[in-house]
Amino acid sequence: MEKEKFYITTPIYYPSDKLHIGHSYCTVAADAMARYKRLRGYDVMFLTGTDEHGQKIERIATSQGVTPKEYVDKVVCGIKDLWQSLDISYDKFIRTTDDYHVKAVQKIFKALYDKGDIYKSEYEGWYCTPCETFFTEHQLVDGKCPDCGREVEKVKEESYFFRLSKYQDALIKHIEEHPGFISPQSRQTEMISNFLKPGLEDLCVSRTSFSWGIPVEFDPGHIVYVWVDALSNYITALGYGSDDDSLYQKYWPADIHLVGKEIVRFHTIIWPAMLMALDLPLPKQVFGHGWLIIDGGKMSKSKGNVVDPKVLVERYGLDAIRYFLLREVAFGQDGNFTNESLIQRINSDLANDLGNLVSRTVGMIEKYFGGTLPYDQEGTEFDLDLIKTASATVEKFEGYMDKMLFSDALSELWVLIRRTNKYIDETQPWVLCKDEANQAKLAGVLYNIAESIRIISILLQPFMTKAPGLIWQQLNITDERLTAWDSTKQWGLLARDFTAAKGESLFPRIDMKKELEELDAALKAAQAESIANQMAKKEDEATETVPQITIDDFAKVQLLTGEVIASEAVKGSKKLLKNTIQVGNETRIILSGIAKYYTPEEMVGKKVVIVANLAPRKMMGEVSHGMILCAEDADGNLSLVTDDKGVASGSEVR
Ligand code: ME8
Ligand code: MG
Repeated sequence: MEKEKFYITTPIYYPSDKLHIGHSYCTVAADAMARYKRLRGYDVMFLTGTDEHGQKIERIATSQGVTPKEYVDKVVCGIKDLWQSLDISYDKFIRTTDDYHVKAVQKIFKALYDKGDIYKSEYEGWYCTPCETFFTEHQLVDGKCPDCGREVEKVKEESYFFRLSKYQDALIKHIEEHPGFISPQSRQTEMISNFLKPGLEDLCVSRTSFSWGIPVEFDPGHIVYVWVDALSNYITALGYGSDDDSLYQKYWPADIHLVGKEIVRFHTIIWPAMLMALDLPLPKQVFGHGWLIIDGGKMSKSKGNVVDPKVLVERYGLDAIRYFLLREVAFGQDGNFTNESLIQRINSDLANDLGNLVSRTVGMIEKYFGGTLPYDQEGTEFDLDLIKTASATVEKFEGYMDKMLFSDALSELWVLIRRTNKYIDETQPWVLCKDEANQAKLAGVLYNIAESIRIISILLQPFMTKAPGLIWQQLNITDERLTAWDSTKQWGLLARDFTAAKGESLFPRIDMKKELEELDAALKAAQAESIANQMAKKEDEATETVPQITIDDFAKVQLLTGEVIASEAVKGSKKLLKNTIQVGNETRIILSGIAKYYTPEEMVGKKVVIVANLAPRKMMGEVSHGMILCAEDADGNLSLVTDDKGVASGSEVR
């Protein structure tokens, strides 16, 4: 029998930021779903990738003194590396710079043009480059981007337009006739009342003022709007518009586009309208998940509150991180990320409930029976309830997973884990073991616990990629029939006289107080490294391309002499020193990335030159007010620029 197909996608990520735990959240969720469907026998296509074109990427590359292609090639490597460290089981990774994608997008654009759904006109309005989104004057909030609150830019250029307005009624009809097309329900209401009902305007779909994008084939001065380019990935990745579209034929329409809530709009309005215009079927569901929030705001690099997933994986292992992300927050809603809540979950759910269950069970089998249970076993009055709980758990777990209610599925699984722990308390093996007459009962009890653990280990698989295998090792399970998904529906498959052997502890307990301090320092250090790297890159660039400036430009920079009166290392950073500088009558704090070249003791007493009117910036939780000038040669030798005669501090440098 042919397997049923299941096609799931994540957004394709901008390689603009270092990806943080917020990005990992969406990808881990998609991965859990893909694994779950594979386990249930589906033929799964799981797509992810990178969205590499557009003005934002072009600007970042320019600011780093490299070509956009050089820039994206480097960042994409890091992204793939991150997905590997989180065990993301994608089937395909698309890059929008891939040749087949570029050609297919050109074909799509041409087809829409030939149909009359794309026409040429002039665009005049506003553009938010970080969001890559067009806004009309009245959509702005206080003159800023209504989505991210950042500055927008005025754009006036000849452009192609997509007749989005033409599809308004068809979109409303489709959404209303297909409940679940936009999930959760609250996002559907929002799309209809905030965007569709007020009326759609035609969408500007080409740009001429920069060049990093896919050229319109029949008018190469224009490049395709990055969202039209990006959304098309979901079909071009399957070969749509190429010589071989067999994957497209097999997998389209997508079963689920998983996206963050701020881009639901693009996926439920622009994308379906494009598909309608191309006469292609629409995806079955767009699921908009919430944001991971830290300190009350969306985690994002511009806010400097990013949590680097690699640091977490190194410290706690990827099973713990994957579990935490999908357990802590109801999928769909925003959720707060705190280091405390992470460690709390690891200690209570993983170390205490799950890890302990496995280790004490195997320990008892070893202690009471030398590792192998006797064949002769007897039941107890508590067995039936345990067995019933197991079967109810499997059924509810599947129901939740089918609706992508990951947190509910996990909490249901923990009902069984806790029930099994309670069964141990009820049956009291440590009492049974005292009486020779209870040997068969004791063996039966341990068998039931192990059988429950077997079922638990199978259900864990969408979420954890390491622990299930480690559990099977300890219970010596090698027969695949005992780990098949449907074997969770049958009690008693484990051989009665199986052998168990204790392994490493699955989830060691963590000392909360000590760990919180260390974790905080490690996260800050990772963040400071990345800021320091960027600053270093900017400095490199400054020496490579030297644009001329006028005397007025120079006059904008206020350079003053100052004396270092105190200096100390910044905790958790290998690069930064925190210097207190006397500048005339005032003192100020300046952070400087020179810890490799000067000790704090050497700094004190130095008469330095500072940039005094640099906007304050925060690094490692400390605010720096200005910059100390240094010279660095090609061999990496660094020297402070100092005042050799000792003029009064606060003197102007010209
Ligand atoms: O939007 N919590 O890319 P992107 C949860 N290239 N999710 C978060 C998050 C957070 N703190 N921060 C980001 C783009 N995300 C486009 C997509 S698709 C055809 C093109 C999620 O790199 C965000 O919600 O800015 C989005 O779904 C995804 O990361 C990619 O964001
Ligand atoms: Mg974004």
